[in-house]
Amino acid sequence: MDVDKVAGVFDRAAPTYDRVGIDFFQPVGRALVAAVRPQPTDVAVDLGCGRGAALFPLADTVHHVTGIDLAPKMVELTRADAAGRGNVTVVQGDAATPDLPSAHFDIVTASLVAFFMPDPLAAMRRWVTLLRPGGRLGISSFRDVPNRMHDVMAVVQDYLPPRRAPKSVFDADDTVAQLLRDAGLREVTTTHLSFDTTFEDEEQFHRYEWSNGRREAWEHIPVEWHAEARTRMAELLASYADADGRTRFEANIRLTVGIK
Ligand SMILES: C[S@@+](CC[C@H](N)C(=O)[O-])C[C@H]1O[C@@H](n2cnc3c(N)ncnc32)[C@H](O)[C@@H]1O
Repeated sequence: MDVDKVAGVFDRAAPTYDRVGIDFFQPVGRALVAAVRPQPTDVAVDLGCGRGAALFPLADTVHHVTGIDLAPKMVELTRADAAGRGNVTVVQGDAATPDLPSAHFDIVTASLVAFFMPDPLAAMRRWVTLLRPGGRLGISSFRDVPNRMHDVMAVVQDYLPPRRAPKSVFDADDTVAQLLRDAGLREVTTTHLSFDTTFEDEEQFHRYEWSNGRREAWEHIPVEWHAEARTRMAELLASYADADGRTRFEANIRLTVGIK
């Protein structure tokens, strides 16, 4: 997805992003923040801050945190959520080329964002310049562990033109770790985070689909096929549901942290 498309998708998703009652982005953001070991005197920046999944846990500890996001609506809503907190600034900007001072930050985080960068190594090198010596950079990314969630999500592919998924540096732990080392970081560590995400029903699942980056796929499916795609997804979801009607999926996330 090019930068304008990413901005558009997340601008439209912003009002419901991380607000449909699904515990997904916030546990990831909290774990990433814990992994970069924030201190009360730290100055931090959270790139691609969205609705604040990592930004607000950082703000709970650090002296000051700046959140940057490409999507104006994300910025507007997160800035409103931050009102009353004296140590949070939220600005609109491109994380690939952030307009921020060099060697100024103790912490740089990017939770579920780095894979949107057109040139991840160039972006990572830029992010490393923001850090003071000894500063920590942490990113989270998806671990592609096949599970039931993939089956349900794969339904949309049947309604889209075939596309070969390009190989990505974010496919494996070692290539992500190497990316951070190539950007100039040392002592790079990788941690896995797994937790259950529970959907109450199909309606909530559908709202979740439209509230995040998955929205992009739905926006490309001709409207006349939406009902059929949704029904097929609902049937799969129901086949995985527990006796209580809820469907639980395991979320698998990778946290990669390095030191300058
Ligand atoms: C999957 S969301 C993650 C949001 C938040 N970090 C979280 O964990 O909930 C990706 C976010 O990155 C933002 N984003 C994508 N590309 C960006 C870029 N080049 N610069 C700044 N933000 C970007 C999107 O607008 C969106 O808010």
